[in-house]
Amino acid sequence: MSFFITLEGPEGGGKSTQAQRLANHLESQGHDILFTREPGGTEIGDQIRRVIMSLENKSMSPEAEFLLFSASRAQLVRELIQPHLERGGMVVCDRFFHSSLAYQGYGHELDLELLRTISGFVTGGLIPDLTFLLDLTSELGLERRKRDGRWNRLDDYDLAFHERVREGYLHLADADPGRWTRIDAAQPEDQIQEQIREVVAGRLAV
Ligand code: TYD
Repeated sequence: MSFFITLEGPEGGGKSTQAQRLANHLESQGHDILFTREPGGTEIGDQIRRVIMSLENKSMSPEAEFLLFSASRAQLVRELIQPHLERGGMVVCDRFFHSSLAYQGYGHELDLELLRTISGFVTGGLIPDLTFLLDLTSELGLERRKRDGRWNRLDDYDLAFHERVREGYLHLADADPGRWTRIDAAQPEDQIQEQIREVVAGRLAV
C-alpha cells in the first residue's frame, strides 16, 4: 500500500532513531519500505548536504540555505520517493518540506507563503500522509545535541531562532491535525516508538 510518513521536529528529539526503528518495524511486518532522510538521501543530495552543514559556510544567506535544502529535496523526490510510492511502496522520511517551513520560514522569518509555493514546485505537490512532530523544548534539544557531539552549522543559530522553529512546528501541527501527530519527545525512547507505531497501525487499518 502506498503510504508516506515523515518525522519532524527540532534538534535533539531523537527523530532519526525513531524514524529508523519505525522503518525496521514496518519492514518486518512485510511492507515494502524506503527509508530516507533530508537533506541528502541521494548522491547529489549528500553533496548538497555537505555544503549546507559545513561549519565553514557561516556566511550562507537564509535564501541560499532554503534553495539548497529545496534542491536536495527535488532530487530525492524524483530519484527515490516518487518512484517508490508509484510502485505501491511505503516511505519513511526523516524530515521533509515542513522542515523548511519551520527552519527557514519561522526560524529565519522568510515569507512562508512564498516558501510553500516554491515547495509545491520542488515536491511536485507531494504531501506526506502522516507526519509526526517530535516536540521538545529548545533548551533540552540543544543540550542533547551538544552531548551527542553532532553539532552542525544550523545548531549554531541562537536560542531565539530555535524557539521560533519550535513554535513554528506547533503552528503547523495545529493547523492540520488530520495529518500531524504531536509526540512529547522528552519521554523515554521506547515509549515514543510505541506511540508512533500505534498511530501508524491505526492509519493503516482504515
Ligand atoms: P541533521 O544532522 O540531519 O539533524 P537532525 O538529526 O536534527 O535531523 O541536520 C539537519 C539540519 O538541517 C537540522 O538542523 C534541521 C535543518 N533543516 C532545515 O533547516 N531545513 C530543511 O528543509 C531541512 C530538511 C533541514
